[in-house]
Amino acid sequence: MILVFASSKGGVGKSTTCAACGAALALENSRVLILDLDQNRTLHRWSRKFSIPGLTVEAPAPDDFPTVLKSRLTSGDYDHVLIDLAGVREMTMFKAISRADLVIIPAQASEPDIREALVIAGDVRDLEETAGRKIPYRLLLTKMFPLRNRVSDFAYSELARKGLPMFKTVLVERTAYREMFLNGEPPTQHDTGKGAGVEIAALLDEIEEIVYPDAAPADRHPLQAAE
Ligand SMILES: Nc1ncnc2c1ncn2[C@@H]1O[C@H](COP(=O)(O)OP(=O)(O)O)[C@@H](O)[C@H]1O
Ligand SMILES: [Mg+2]
Repeated sequence: MILVFASSKGGVGKSTTCAACGAALALENSRVLILDLDQNRTLHRWSRKFSIPGLTVEAPAPDDFPTVLKSRLTSGDYDHVLIDLAGVREMTMFKAISRADLVIIPAQASEPDIREALVIAGDVRDLEETAGRKIPYRLLLTKMFPLRNRVSDFAYSELARKGLPMFKTVLVERTAYREMFLNGEPPTQHDTGKGAGVEIAALLDEIEEIVYPDAAPADRHPLQAAE
């Protein structure tokens, strides 16, 4: 499958979520390519710190991205391609979204983040018309406080009011996610049965249900939706 992590803001958790999902899929024996299209190259730098069999990170120049994506898909070397974007609405983002099986829009539970997420959701709907196909998208709440509070209540009621589709899974503010860029270890490598590991596994279950709606879990063939 092709997953695109998009937002018009930096710091919302795109790279963290992309890396955690990519690592978790690779640790389940999928062959995963992460395309880091952010000029900051957060994930490209991260990739020098880990060694996870089956996980590759490439950082092509944004102009080369469509050609690189096409050649990696036709190579048959990868089961999944995850695309991490810069936090700006520009052409590279639109090109990536138009190729996505699912667009994941991370946002913190705050009014400005939710407003920005709505803008990206609007972009996805515009691109659906150009692409002539449905492009599923979901908002993902990140860096959540574990306990309900006024801000998270506001976020949920706003999201319900606007009808923005969202993941049931939320990512809680956890040290394991922050440590990833320091020591290279994906949050799911040791934490499989708890915390970040449980969250990322639940998120991947939801993602697979959206991308492969008709398949039983065992029959969810990689890149099936992209063929
Ligand atoms: N769930 C989380 N818990 C704790 N820290 C997080 C979480 N998600 C992201 N972060 C931290 O927030 C900062 C921004 O995250 P990042 O993934 O780089 O955002 P983006 O790619 O959207 O700019 C980083 O320092 C990262 O470690
Ligand atoms: Mg980033």
